[in-house]
Amino acid sequence: MERYPINLNEYEELAKKILPHNIWDYIEAGRGDEITLKRNTEIFNEVFLRPNKMVDISNIKMETTILGDKTSFPLMIAPAGGHTFCDEEGELSTIRAAKKENIIAGVGTNSSYTIEEISKETDKSLWFQIYHLSREIDEMLVKRAENNGYKVIVLTVDGPVPGMDHLRPKERDIRNAFINPPNTERVNLIGEVAGLGYKKGDPEVQLGGYHPVEQLIWEDIDWFRSITKLPIVIKGLQSAHDAKKAVEYGVDGIVVSNHGARGVDTLMPSLESLPEVLDAVNGKCEVYLDGGIRRGADILKALAFGAKGVMIGRPFYWGLAVDGENGVRDVINILKQELEQAMKYCGITDVENIDPNLLSYNFS
Ligand SMILES: Cc1cc2nc3c(=O)[nH]c(=O)nc-3n(C[C@H](O)[C@H](O)[C@H](O)COP(=O)(O)O)c2cc1C
Repeated sequence: MERYPINLNEYEELAKKILPHNIWDYIEAGRGDEITLKRNTEIFNEVFLRPNKMVDISNIKMETTILGDKTSFPLMIAPAGGHTFCDEEGELSTIRAAKKENIIAGVGTNSSYTIEEISKETDKSLWFQIYHLSREIDEMLVKRAENNGYKVIVLTVDGPVPGMDHLRPKERDIRNAFINPPNTERVNLIGEVAGLGYKKGDPEVQLGGYHPVEQLIWEDIDWFRSITKLPIVIKGLQSAHDAKKAVEYGVDGIVVSNHGARGVDTLMPSLESLPEVLDAVNGKCEVYLDGGIRRGADILKALAFGAKGVMIGRPFYWGLAVDGENGVRDVINILKQELEQAMKYCGITDVENIDPNLLSYNFS
């Protein structure tokens, strides 16, 4: 490599050249015509910045806390399965990078290393993400996360069936007749520690594989509360209605997200959902955003709307593909530098104190 990519778009281009075509498509794809996938990113370019000038910017504060945990800036690694698609050490590399850059990392039920293996890599904050499978399995995973020092339980609620590809895979994957490589199995469901009787190669442990499932409804939040003392964050809400429900059920945080447009097409771009969710929540829990964030200025915009932090998914796969742990660190640092630059040029000195007047946009 002559030089590292200079921004996330270049990371995307280079990762596309490096990764096998079918793997690239699996990671990158959105559902259907990929309308939401495109809009998730484009919509950030429809929000413009109204800068403050002649502000003393000699001290810029980017550190903050998210659910009480310190982070060097308000970027989190979105929980996502199969980082081993791009790097042999997958989630271990990602978590080492997050540790070195001091940011919070989400770890998925679907990760290719276990809850225990991943936690050994870091003394920094990890959030454990759950797809509701059954109360028995959820409780087993929550207990293991708790026992291994994870700080938050993230409940992903935007996939009514786990293994969202069960009925109909994403079209790029149909075209490629995509099959998950063996190193992407859901190891958290295997072995004695899981106690489910599954072994390597079983259909139930395949990434995206179908798994018998119990429904998840709002009342289940009370049950989750009864089995853990950890804060509960709900990932995948997009409406004022659901945000109010989440507050009613006492959740600690909401990730406004359409799952990177992988579930169903023409969902609202996630940034467009952010104002109504923030309005409905009215400060009663923290709100985060993911989907399409590719620039430091995008992070600034999300924060100016009122998000406490953001998550990013695909760019960490690109970083892993380009240079493993170092690639992920570089992606984090590019975003951090871009955010700092944007803050300075807009006269913003603290990520915790951004006037929404910074934003000029036309959606409600
Ligand atoms: C390949 C891939 C796998 C994912 N797996 C999960 C997962 O296991 N659990 C989850 O809650 N979200 C998962 N997501 C969604 C991400 O957490 C996040 O919501 C999304 O990637 C954000 O959009 P972005 O990729 O545009 O940043 C996945 C996303 C991708 C691209």
